[in-house]
Amino acid sequence: MTTSLSAGLVVYVFGAVCMRAIAARANSPHPFFVETPEPPPPGSGEVLCRTLEVGVCGTDREILHSEQPLLPPGQDRLVLGHECLARVEQVGPGVREVQPGDLVTPVVRRASQPSRVRVDLMSFGEFTERGIVHEDGFALPWFIDKPEFLFPVAPQIADAAVFTEPLSIAEKAANEAIVLQQARLGAHAWIESPPRVLVTGLGPIAFGAVLACRGRGWPVTVWGRDPADTFRVRLACDLGAAYLSAATYHFEPENVERDGFDFIVECTGSDEVLVRAGSALASRGVMAWLGSARVPLPAQHNVALLMRQAILGNHLHLGSVNAAPRDFADALGRIAQFHASHPHELAAIFTDRVRPDDALWHYENRRPQGIKTVIVFGD
Ligand code: BGC
Repeated sequence: MTTSLSAGLVVYVFGAVCMRAIAARANSPHPFFVETPEPPPPGSGEVLCRTLEVGVCGTDREILHSEQPLLPPGQDRLVLGHECLARVEQVGPGVREVQPGDLVTPVVRRASQPSRVRVDLMSFGEFTERGIVHEDGFALPWFIDKPEFLFPVAPQIADAAVFTEPLSIAEKAANEAIVLQQARLGAHAWIESPPRVLVTGLGPIAFGAVLACRGRGWPVTVWGRDPADTFRVRLACDLGAAYLSAATYHFEPENVERDGFDFIVECTGSDEVLVRAGSALASRGVMAWLGSARVPLPAQHNVALLMRQAILGNHLHLGSVNAAPRDFADALGRIAQFHASHPHELAAIFTDRVRPDDALWHYENRRPQGIKTVIVFGD
């Protein structure tokens, strides 16, 4: 196993061959490099994967900021990284689903016990999440996984496939909203007349929401704080969205049925934005909550108004986390769709591609117009 490792990443600790991982530990807000043993050859039903790319996301930053990562049992650090593109290097006995050379993207969440509840709908305590909840992630050169957690990636979309996981979060929101609207309004809902979508924010999940909704042919408006003639705003517009600036739009349309929105995808994690956006939701609308602050600050907002509007408007407020296999598959399809229709715009979402040596800064900082930072581990 040592032969194929990149130079500089091989270290021997007490005679074992080790590789360098990016990790979080308790009582520190800083990411660090840790030497961890290389995985053994894959056992029965296992797959050895070579990490090619890992995305850095707000959840990584929150884990660090909390200084209390949810460590794997018996370990004093959590290897970060839950957005990943990898290549199958070796398969163990009995593995037929993938073969060496295949590109794959792993899912994050895994059920701890067999259950009838869909994995993304499980309660905390019933699952692990790689790189987030009690299981090491993918910010290291090699990892072992099982075929049921690996989605095949077509080589044509490899350059954007590391975005599958964050995009699956937005695909889930859209899919859940459709299922729920059709259950209560009828099978024609959101098909005959597409929902008017408002996406709040300009981060990676907001861009995921733009792709998920524009890809479905829905009219999308993005609300954000950036001035109009800046990179992220232009990119959202090039992807087919309209833009409303926080400086001028305050979520209080004169006539909410006529000028409001049917689907608001809240991606800022700001309680103030969420509460205020409620005033722009038309009757029977859905607001999906995708952002959140891990440690909410005490704040005073007009929640009573949000409640009243939600009640009178039959609004659906939809908390949503993680993604079902359906949403992961949709994310891969969506990347292929935009790869064909908007290749340059899709590529522009990846504002930074860095080697592991230069990655730590990106876990604690964000460039003002940055969207997605990718750490390039592999060739
Ligand atoms: C990931 C989800 C995960 C959630 C909560 C997000 O960053 O995209 O897959 O379920 O964090 O841990």
